Parts: sequence; structure tokens; C-alpha cells
Amino acid sequence: MSTQKEKAGLVGLIVCKYFLIWCQENLLYFCLVNSTIDTIDLRSDTVTVPSPAMREAMLQAPLGDDVYGEDPTVNELEAFTANLVDKEAALFVPSGVMGNQLCLKVLTSPGDEVLLCSEAHIFHYESAAPAVISQVQLQPLASDKGVISPATIVDSLRPANPHFPRTRVLCLENTHNRYGGLVLPFEAMRASVGAARDHGLACHCDGARLWNACAASNISPAAYCALFDTVSLCLSKGLGAPVGSMIAGPAALMDEARRWRKILGGGMRQAGILAAAGLYALREHRELLGTDHRNAALFAAALQTAGLCRPETEGQASNMVVFRLPEPLVFGQIETGCRERGLRLALIGPGRIRAVFHHQISKTQTEQAAAIVNDIVASLLKAA
Ligand SMILES: Cc1ncc(COP(=O)(O)O)c(C=O)c1O
Repeated sequence: MSTQKEKAGLVGLIVCKYFLIWCQENLLYFCLVNSTIDTIDLRSDTVTVPSPAMREAMLQAPLGDDVYGEDPTVNELEAFTANLVDKEAALFVPSGVMGNQLCLKVLTSPGDEVLLCSEAHIFHYESAAPAVISQVQLQPLASDKGVISPATIVDSLRPANPHFPRTRVLCLENTHNRYGGLVLPFEAMRASVGAARDHGLACHCDGARLWNACAASNISPAAYCALFDTVSLCLSKGLGAPVGSMIAGPAALMDEARRWRKILGGGMRQAGILAAAGLYALREHRELLGTDHRNAALFAAALQTAGLCRPETEGQASNMVVFRLPEPLVFGQIETGCRERGLRLALIGPGRIRAVFHHQISKTQTEQAAAIVNDIVASLLKAA
């Protein structure tokens, strides 16, 4: 009798043991599957991670101390960029913000004024750095999607009188972030810059995504940069490098910018490990930008066809799509649904949602992303 009980107990134990093992394996499988669901992250083109080939280039890069000017890879990146944009010199800097701010610093004196579009990145998202670093005042101006007309520029100039700041610099941004990656028309830019120059202003281009403007318009980086004294150019947006921006301009200004980079704590030592990623991005990734632009257009067309969300369609687009939801939906409502299905989007202003495309988003993912948005919006509208 007791052996029968013992046998039953033993069988029970074995069943329990296998049940526990089954639970463990299936839970592990569940977690693995969920953690490897591909997220389609369209919040920005800054979310890329270095590809294996880019990592290999970083690994192989010859290095030295760049503060001594002895990092061969940084020197190569600076020479390569200067040549590409046809400027006397270029400087590798940690970020787009530092790039813009160094250029403003070397173009202005304290008490000067800088003209820029009221939607400029420098005005909205650079933490009042021009006031802190250069001690200059910004005059935000009305624009036609980033293009400030010659008449607006002339009207905004200050009289030469001790009451006023000295108007010193015109800044344009191309492509334009808050206008959804729009490419500024070349001739209109040339007219703005011409008006500024006629009145003795220096000109700076926030070209964080100038590479996209070049890919979309077939105008060379050198042709765009010829309009400006200084340009800042990001490596870490659509080009996919993990860190870094370049500035370019006359050698004397770049020397001064190098000094200010040091003052701001931006002197990096064996920075060639990062510069190698930048060089790789400039050589290998610029040609991928056209595909990003086609994916953005595909996404916008899929929203347009479904007829629920309203993509902004004016102007020459690049790698971004900005769209609005149908009334009465708000971003918070679709965000959770999108997240649950592995899609990330960004809210960039009241009712304006942004999707940004880059080389780590495929055509299939683009189609999936549009289908997810259309699907969620349709079901929310039904329930509303
Ligand atoms: C137009 C523009 N300029 C400058 C920057 C600043 O670049 P970073 O984030 O590298 O400082 C950005 C960043 O998104 C940008 O969109």
C-alpha cells in the first residue's frame, strides 16, 4: 500500500518537474520573442546604430591625440569634408548644436544680432546657446517654409545707431527640421543670401541634413556651401554615424572655431575612432539617402490613399513626413497602439506627427508602418 502511495507521489513529482520545465522554457521563449520584435523607430534619423561595416572601419582606424592635431583619421575626415564642400578647412565637432554655435561664435561679437527663420532649430532647440556662448541676440523672422525673402531681410536690418544691436549674420537651415525636412529652393536661398551680403552680413547654413537636400535636389554640397561663409553638417542624422558633425569655412575661421571648441570642452583625444564612422558614412551612406526619400514618399502616399491622416505635401520633401490626425483624435491615442505594435512616431507640435526615414528602415517596414497607422486610426475613429 505504502509503495503504491510512494509511486503516486513520485509520478506527481515528475509531472510537477516537467510542468515547471515547460513553463520555464515557454516563458523564456515568450520573453525572447517579445524582446526581438523589430521596432520600427521613425521618431528621428538620429536613432540609427552603426552597421557591422561601420564598426569594422572604427576598429581599424589609425588613432592619435587630436588635441595635438595628431589623429590621422580625424585629419583625413577634415580634409575629406573640406574638399567635398569646397571650403578651405573643416573641423570635426561632437554635435550639430556645437557646430552651429561655433560658427555663430566666430562670425559675431557680443551685442550683435543674428537673423534667422522663426522656426529655426537654432532658435527653438539650442537652449539659448547664442545668448550664452556668443552673447548675441536672435531676430526670428517670418519665412516661406524656411526661406526668408530679401525684402524681409532688408526690413529687419538695424540702423547704425547706438540704440540697436549690429545686424551681423543671416542663418538658413536646409533641409528644414520644423518644416518636415523640406528642401529650400536653391534660387530662393541664393536671393536671400544675396540680399544679406549686399548689406554686409555674413551667412551661415545649419546644414544638419544638407546631405538630404543634395540627394533630393541633385545639387552638389559644394554648390550649396558656396552660398555661405560657414556651414555645419551632421554625420549622425541620416548618414548614420553614431556621433559627430563637421563645420566648414575659411581656414582662419576654422582655426578660431578650433580654439572655441577647446574652450567649450569639445577637444577630443583619440577621436579618430568616431571620425572613422563619419568618413565611412560620408563615403558609403550618402548614396542611400535617395532610398530614404522614396520610403518617405511611399509612407505619405499610403496615408493619403487611406484618406484618414493628412500628410503635409507642400514643397520638396526629403526623408520626413509630417501628418495630422483626423478630428477628434489626438496623438496620445494612437501612440500607445503604435508602440504596442512596435512603431514609434514623434509629436513635433500641436497636432503634427513626424515620421523620419533612414537607411535602417526598409521598404517593407515602411509599408508596415503606414498600415499600422491607418489601421489604428480607422479603429479609433470607429470607436469614437
Ligand atoms: C536642423 C538641425 N540642426 C541642428 C541639430 C542639432 O544636432 P545635434 O543633435 O547633433 O546637436 C539638429 C538636430 O536634430 C537639427 O535637426
